[in-house]
Parts: sequence; structure tokens; C-alpha cells
Amino acid sequence: MSDRSKQNQAQQREQPEPYEGNRPVPWLVILIVSALFIWAVGYIWTTHQSNPPAYGDRRTAQDFKVAAASTGGAVDGAQIYAAQCVACHQASGQGLPGVFPPLAGSEWVNGKAALAIRIVLHGVTGTLTVKGTQYNGMMPMFKDKLNDAQMAALISHIRTNFGNSAGPVDEATVAAEREATADQAAPWNGDADLAAMK
Ligand code: HEC
Repeated sequence: MSDRSKQNQAQQREQPEPYEGNRPVPWLVILIVSALFIWAVGYIWTTHQSNPPAYGDRRTAQDFKVAAASTGGAVDGAQIYAAQCVACHQASGQGLPGVFPPLAGSEWVNGKAALAIRIVLHGVTGTLTVKGTQYNGMMPMFKDKLNDAQMAALISHIRTNFGNSAGPVDEATVAAEREATADQAAPWNGDADLAAMK
């Protein structure tokens, strides 16, 4: 063996490669972290909705009732439109070409109030001509979803927005149309059923 490799062996024996030792997480850190964890769980556990609103949003259910009453407790047609109709007829009321007909400028919306009410109450299937274009889709019925007041607010909204200027509709008219078409069990069959009512 050469001198040189002997020297190497000696070096390796005397000065081994450093290695990473076991360095446990200090117990103090473990203690602090678990104390924080227990405190957080306890905090969430003991925070109930019945806590005074002063802890956060200071409004109570009573405040909302007062707010609603100050607007006359009126139903918001625009809000109902946004919740129930926007997906198909779009926020602009323009519908989607070839798929969902427009409410803007539609003869069904701007015609007799009863017509729009009946359409929204019972829905429509089959061929329906709107502004000279034929649609053949499926308009759902809303008679079970919206009461007379909501329906009146909604129909008034679509008849007075999107550039439409047909008059608003009151609750009594909706109630009368609901009564008059109570036998209608299925959606209207497009033009075949509705054209005669125009
Ligand atoms: C799932 C999609 C969809 C939803 C939701 C929907 N409609 Fe329709 N609507 C249609 C389709 C499709 C037609 C055409 C039906 C046909 O071709 O027979 C239509 C037709 C109409 C019509 C007559 C045609 C016209 O364009 O004037 C009116 C009025 C109408 N919808 C109002 C509403 C109102 C108000 C709502 C919300 C309460 C609503 N629709 C929700 C799909 C929908």
C-alpha cells in the first residue's frame, strides 16, 4: 500500500464525515404548539351563535325585519329574476340565440299581462315563435315556486326592463290567472296553445 492511501485511511478514521444527528423538537415548542391548539379548539367550541352580536356583525334578526318593513316589505322582482331566470334568459333579457328566446322586445312579454303570467306559471315546450324566430326548448313551470306576490313582482320586472315598457302587473291579476288556469297540468304546447291567447 502506498504512503498516500495510508494517509487517506488515517484521515478518514480520525475525521469522519459529519452526519446529521437526531435533533428532537424542543419540548418547550411542543408544549406551546399543543397549548395553542387546545386553546383554538376550545375557543371555537365555546363560541356560539347566541353570543352577543357586539362580538362581530352587530345586526340582529330584528334589524333585518325592520329593514324589510321600511321598504314596504315588497318582493324584489329583479332579485327573483336573477335567481330563477338569468341562467337561461340572461341578465340582459336577450336570451341565447337559437336556444333561449329573448324577453327584451318579446311579443309574449309585452302583450297581454295574462299571457306572460300564464307562460311563467306553467312553462312552455314545443315550437314557440318569438320575434319571428322559432324556438323549440323547455321552459320550466314556476307555479309551485313563486307565490302571487313574487310572480307579480317578477312579471312587472320583465315587462318594465330590458327596454320593455308594458305596464306592471298586480297580485290580484296573478291570482286570477292562477285560478283560471288551475286545470293546466302540463306546460303549454308552444304556439299551438298560446297563439290563440295573444
Ligand atoms: C331552463 C331554462 C329557462 C328558465 C330557467 C326560464 N326560462 Fe323562460 N323560456 C325558456 C325556453 C327554452 C323558452 C321557449 C320555450 C319553447 O321553445 O317552447 C322560454 C320562454 C319564455 C317566455 C316566452 C317567450 C319569450 O321569450 O318571451 C317567457 C315570457 C319566459 N320564458 C319567461 C321566463 C321567466 C320570467 C323566467 C324566470 C321565472 C324563465 N323564463 C325561466 C327557458 C327558460
